[in-house]
Amino acid sequence: MLVKVSVKKALITGVTGQDGAYLLRFLLEKGYEVHGIRRRTSTLSTARIDDVYAGRVCPQEQVFMHYGDLHDGVSLMELVERIQPEEIYHLASQSHVQVSFENPLATVVDNVSGTISLLEAARRLNHRCRFYNAASSEMFGITPPPQNERSPFHPRSPYACSKVFTFNQTVNYREAYGLHASNGILFNHESPLRGEAFVTRKVTRAVGRIKVGLQRTLALGNLEARRDWGYAPEYVEAMWLMLQQVEPDDYVIGTGEMHSVGELCEMAFGAVGLDYRDYVVTDPTLVRPSEAHALCGDASKAAATLGWHPRTTFQRLVEIMVEADLELAAEEKKLGRLISSY
Ligand code: GDD
Repeated sequence: MLVKVSVKKALITGVTGQDGAYLLRFLLEKGYEVHGIRRRTSTLSTARIDDVYAGRVCPQEQVFMHYGDLHDGVSLMELVERIQPEEIYHLASQSHVQVSFENPLATVVDNVSGTISLLEAARRLNHRCRFYNAASSEMFGITPPPQNERSPFHPRSPYACSKVFTFNQTVNYREAYGLHASNGILFNHESPLRGEAFVTRKVTRAVGRIKVGLQRTLALGNLEARRDWGYAPEYVEAMWLMLQQVEPDDYVIGTGEMHSVGELCEMAFGAVGLDYRDYVVTDPTLVRPSEAHALCGDASKAAATLGWHPRTTFQRLVEIMVEADLELAAEEKKLGRLISSY
């Protein structure tokens, strides 16, 4: 007799992004049936997950993609109702801080309304669904480091303000309705899948291209800003751990180590034997109107409760990204054209 084993269902918003791509693989390995929501765009946006989607990583009946948009609450709620996931990982947002100064309304409306729609949808599943909200270290803004769960928020961008709202809204659904809803306050987390507009990837892409002779200089904004940069695949594991706890809660996830953008450049260019001062120029248009100057996560609560610890050092992270982008640049040189990555 064939016994049908019931598998856990998870829904990921932002599945085509860096974190979504790693989380998708992580959950598939754990045996989940995974549903991903992606936005309809005229150019394809699935490069990070094409191998999964094409059935190369897992059986096709284990992964399902749906179209959805953060401001279309009706279809988000309808999707959740139809899928009945046990876990929702809400990762989608307009996540670029600088862009949020240029498009403040779109950033806030999308980030806030998408979160409310999904929390409402989760609530209607009557405690059968757990909810993860991607909050952000940007919420701390100018609060001095190290920052932990008790540090006050002082957001410094429309993006950060929108994340403070989603953080509070998630806590409110927990308190008002008893929803198993947790906030991950993740500090910067990077990888070869990071979008090229974020500073680590912008630097490592430039290092690769400069090394093979495809680029001459790199324009950056604030070189003094300091961040706590960790390795993204380890951070998605923390998201999952939060939803496996008996009680929902909020957790800071970071490495506890802080480096400046200048140090990042020094290490990345140094990895291929170059001195960044010969290539990096500063461009005032890339400096933000207000900045979170120094972010460094104290993740001791996550260590004690979730058993989560960062494993990849900053130096190793930079090496991983430089190695990947050197390969990509070599490929570009061979093809005689630039490859747009993510
Ligand atoms: N993007 C970018 N481009 N940043 C630059 C540049 C540049 O040319 N030059 C200097 N920076 C500085 C920024 O001013 C900032 O202080 C720092 O580099 C990091 O910028 P980003 O890599 O864009 O990341 P972020 O810290 O603003 O935000 C990221 O991390 C948050 C925390 O996890 C994003 O991924 C957010 O969505 C996320 O919440």
